[in-house]
Amino acid sequence: MSKVLLVGCGHMGTALIMSWLNLKSYTFTIVDPYNFNKLKKLLKNKKINILKKAPTQKEMRAFNIIIFAVKPQSANDVLSEYKNFELNKNIVIGSIIAGKKINFFKNKIRNANQFVRIMPNMPALVRKGISCFVSNSNLSSSNKKKLNELFLKVGKTVWLKNESQIDKATAVSGSGPGYIFTLIHGFEKAAKKLGFSKKQARDLITSTILGSISLMQETKKEPQELAKQIAVKGGTTEAGINNLKNNKIDKIILTTFKSAYERAKILGKKNQ
Ligand SMILES: NC(=O)c1ccc[n+]([C@@H]2O[C@H](COP(=O)([O-])OP(=O)(O)OC[C@H]3O[C@@H](n4cnc5c(N)ncnc54)[C@H](OP(=O)(O)O)[C@@H]3O)[C@@H](O)[C@H]2O)c1
Repeated sequence: MSKVLLVGCGHMGTALIMSWLNLKSYTFTIVDPYNFNKLKKLLKNKKINILKKAPTQKEMRAFNIIIFAVKPQSANDVLSEYKNFELNKNIVIGSIIAGKKINFFKNKIRNANQFVRIMPNMPALVRKGISCFVSNSNLSSSNKKKLNELFLKVGKTVWLKNESQIDKATAVSGSGPGYIFTLIHGFEKAAKKLGFSKKQARDLITSTILGSISLMQETKKEPQELAKQIAVKGGTTEAGINNLKNNKIDKIILTTFKSAYERAKILGKKNQ
């Protein structure tokens, strides 16, 4: 049985814990002083220990995995609460906190030597997320397997080689659902301006997006090839695509990723 401590259980922590509830070979303890009452209600009758503050030294020694899931802005203060504990010698310290480097955790939690950064994304809530990982070289294969197993419960997993890749993954897939929802909102707003009702706009846009992704997956064709097939010369799609190109859609996407990546680096530097 592996004992997991989840520190911080807001949006992402809740998405994770809801999918982990049925895992037989793990037990879970959550610490969240601010969401305590909400979590008690949500997880009523579930075999989960919910705490208002950090566990005691005796409790701490029993954990095999700790996952920090607080906001980057609170990371420094929260980690300080955990720095003096004696820990299980095989413990792995995981973090889903955007930007915070492995060194940050190493400097704070000196009684551990296995560290993993994980970047999930919000579709984890419906088990369709994608989580990227990077670890220090001390990570044991059994801890790697366990973390992988946990995050497979909320979607796909991808192990990366270095930390700069995880900051980039933060910009692409971690923040990605935020861009997609912003685009969907924009598509819907525009469809409504053309005269569709809210419901019609939602149906047209969501079916188009879902259908296009399925088409790409099932045909295994490149998106550009599929776009070309639809955009016959002189046709409507070509006119629309030309407008996207004239407005430098590729540049907008690249600068969107770069802005998020720069932000991840800045968040990582604050309090190191
Ligand atoms: N949301 C996403 O899509 C997403 C995707 C990938 C990664 N992440 C990362 O996941 C982390 C959490 O994001 P989130 O959206 O879940 O944030 P969130 O909803 O604010 O959750 C963080 C939780 O930690 C609580 N907390 C604060 N101090 C604490 C303490 N001392 N001990 C235990 N818990 C404490 C917070 O309470 P208060 O709110 O009252 O402070 C909050 O409930 C962030 O670092 C983010 O970079 C998020």
